[in-house]
Amino acid sequence: MKTEIQRALITGGSRGIGFHITKKLTENGIDVCIAGRDGTSLREAKGQLLQNPLSAQVHTIQIDLEQTDAPQQLIREAGEKLGGLDLLVNNAGICLNRSLEETSLKEWDRIMHINARAPYFLCQHALPWLRDSSVPTIIQIASVVGHNGYESQSAYAASKHALLGFTKSLAKEVQHEGIRVYTLSPGGVATEMIGAARPDLDDSALIDPTEISDLVWYILTHRGNAMIDNLMIRRAAKTAWS
Ligand SMILES: NC(=O)c1ccc[n+]([C@@H]2O[C@H](COP(=O)([O-])OP(=O)(O)OC[C@H]3O[C@@H](n4cnc5c(N)ncnc54)[C@H](OP(=O)(O)O)[C@@H]3O)[C@@H](O)[C@H]2O)c1
Repeated sequence: MKTEIQRALITGGSRGIGFHITKKLTENGIDVCIAGRDGTSLREAKGQLLQNPLSAQVHTIQIDLEQTDAPQQLIREAGEKLGGLDLLVNNAGICLNRSLEETSLKEWDRIMHINARAPYFLCQHALPWLRDSSVPTIIQIASVVGHNGYESQSAYAASKHALLGFTKSLAKEVQHEGIRVYTLSPGGVATEMIGAARPDLDDSALIDPTEISDLVWYILTHRGNAMIDNLMIRRAAKTAWS
C-alpha cells in the first residue's frame, strides 16, 4: 500500500507512540521532522531511525510546546526543513494523575497548554502549508479519556475533550479544501506515560505502540471515499471496559 505523503511533522516523535509512528513513516520513505523538549531523546531517536538503510530524512527540533510562541515557530521551522508539509501529527502530550480537588492552577494550565492549546495553534499555523500539498492531512492523537471520564484524570480528560472538540469543528471548516482530519483515541498503550499514569495495569495486556502506528499507516494508505473521523482503540482485555 502506498501514500503520496512525503513530508510529515510529528510532535513528541522522540518517544512512545510518536516514535513508532515516525518509524513507520521513515521506513516507507517519508521525510519527517520530530519535535520534543529533550535534546538527548531527539538525538537517540534520530540515530535509531537512521539505522534503517531505507530510512528517509529525519530532522529534529527541540521545543517546549507549553510555550505560547512554540506552535508558530515549530511549523515554520519544520516547513522550511522539509520544504513543505503534507502531514501534521499532533501526538505530544502529558498526563496527570491527580484528583480534581488536588489539581493546582499551574498543573491545569500546563496540561491544557500542551494537550489542547498547542495542537490548536499547530493546526492553525499548519493550514497555509497544508494548502500547498496535494494530500493535506492532520492526525490528532487524543485518548479514550477524551470520550470518557476516569477518576484522578479530570484535567487530562478536560484537555483531551478540548482536543476532540476543536478537531470536530476544524474537520468541517477545512473539508471543502480536501484537508483530511483524523482522530485516534487509544487507551492503554505500552509507553513511559502509561507506566507512570496506570501502574495498576498488567503490562502484558497493554497495546503495543506498533499497533497504533499500523493504524496510522492504514489511514494514510486508504485515502478513498470512506473517511474515518475517529478511531477508538481499546485494550482487548478480558475484563469489562468503559
Ligand atoms: N500511552 C497511552 O496509553 C496513551 C493512551 C491514550 C492517549 N495517549 C496519548 O498519546 C500521546 C503520546 O503518548 P505516549 O504514551 O507516547 O507518551 P510518552 O511516551 O510520554 O511520550 C510523549 C512525547 O511527547 C513529548 N512531549 C511531552 N511534553 C512536551 C512538550 N511540552 N513539548 C514538546 N514535546 C513534548 C515527549 O518528549 P519530551 O519529554 O522530550 O518533551 C515525548 O516525545 C499523548 O498525547 C498521550 O496523551 C497515550
